[in-house]
Amino acid sequence: MNRREFLGTGALVGGVAAAPQLALASQSPAFPQGFVWGAATSGHQTEGNNIASDQWLFETVEPRMAKTPSGDACNSFALWPLDLALVEAANLSSYRFSIEWPRIEPVKGEFSTAMLDHYRAMLEGCRARGIEPMVTLCHFTTPRWFAAGGGWKQGDAAQLFARYAARVMEHMGDLVGPVVTINEANVCNLLGIGMPEGFFRAVGTTLAEAARQSGSEEFVLSNLVLPEDREAVTRGLLAGHAEGRAAIRKMAPHARVGVTIAVNDEQAVPGGETMRDTIRERAYGDWLRAAREDDFIGVQNYHRAVWGPDGKRHAPEGATVNFSGEEVYAPSLANAVRYVHGAVGKPIYVTEHGVGTRDDTIRQRLIVEALRHLRGAIAEGVPVRGYYHWSLLDNYEWGGEPENRFGLVTVNPVTFERTPKPSYATLAAIARTNGAEL
Ligand code: BGC
Repeated sequence: MNRREFLGTGALVGGVAAAPQLALASQSPAFPQGFVWGAATSGHQTEGNNIASDQWLFETVEPRMAKTPSGDACNSFALWPLDLALVEAANLSSYRFSIEWPRIEPVKGEFSTAMLDHYRAMLEGCRARGIEPMVTLCHFTTPRWFAAGGGWKQGDAAQLFARYAARVMEHMGDLVGPVVTINEANVCNLLGIGMPEGFFRAVGTTLAEAARQSGSEEFVLSNLVLPEDREAVTRGLLAGHAEGRAAIRKMAPHARVGVTIAVNDEQAVPGGETMRDTIRERAYGDWLRAAREDDFIGVQNYHRAVWGPDGKRHAPEGATVNFSGEEVYAPSLANAVRYVHGAVGKPIYVTEHGVGTRDDTIRQRLIVEALRHLRGAIAEGVPVRGYYHWSLLDNYEWGGEPENRFGLVTVNPVTFERTPKPSYATLAAIARTNGAEL
């Protein structure tokens, strides 16, 4: 079972219709001038062979949890110019990708100039094409030595992360735009709410084997965190974010810094309000408070959850569903940004939004409908500065379930040839007119 299946939440929307017909003759822009249109990826999920990372070991030890390991992924380590060309051809003004700490510092304290140069070349490639890069410094992956040392639980985790962040900014800070310290920093809290005990038992067994192979006492990841580690990992992540932000601001004073969090649209039926509010505090509270010190907050939304007095409600009959049967609910994104705005009051980027499915008509329809709702939230005064679709590519999805496809573009696993889907054209048309006529 993959992480997204567990993260999913309950409830509705009608049947899947044919691909939306968009008349996109440009009139007055529907989104604010300068609104950022983008697509997102992460290094581990696209580059391939990220072998110094904790996730690579986790994916390959026995007993395995992942159905398939990341392997070559999309071979974007070599083919990133093709990815940038796809971003450009879709009229997108920004590309969100991650810099892989395991490549930059594969051994504790030893930094690779060649790898720093690699990411600098990617940033230069963005700038040469007029694409504003949004980099993430930790998109779930940490170096294997970091996980073996206790991950975000270890005493100097924040300093280690800040040292890496400072190195990156020293090498390429002149080229960055918005910088995300940590991706979905709250994901372990959400997993704690959504996952059954058996899941954590399986995670524990795999982590124990990873620790054994690393010759360490434990092996602690950023996303799949055991219940007993959750609090300490969150403390480490919060400290890492704060120290990382300080290091980035020092080395690249022009950079805007933020964190991204996964935010479900938490709803309550009558009697479920207390439950919903308790869940909100557990899932988001720490990070919404932390983000008040940031320049922006990244909101990543895929689901809604409907709470009654006794727990989460099931999706209604006939709902449009993703590959694993979870509801696809277009208004959830706008509701998530409304909630975050009320709690944080800082500029917002939608740093991820999308759907795992092989049926691209579901994706096309979701893009159009969710963006209509998002435009409504902006008109109400929610300061959303940009929208990044997850994902540019059919990349490696955590858990390795081959049916769980998020891309606007398919990738042949053997030739790595990229082929845009109809949803790529849908987003490109919207971006071209800044959402006029949506
Ligand atoms: C993560 C991505 C992931 C996506 C779809 C987000 O939680 O940041 O890495 O692929 O959701 O599951």
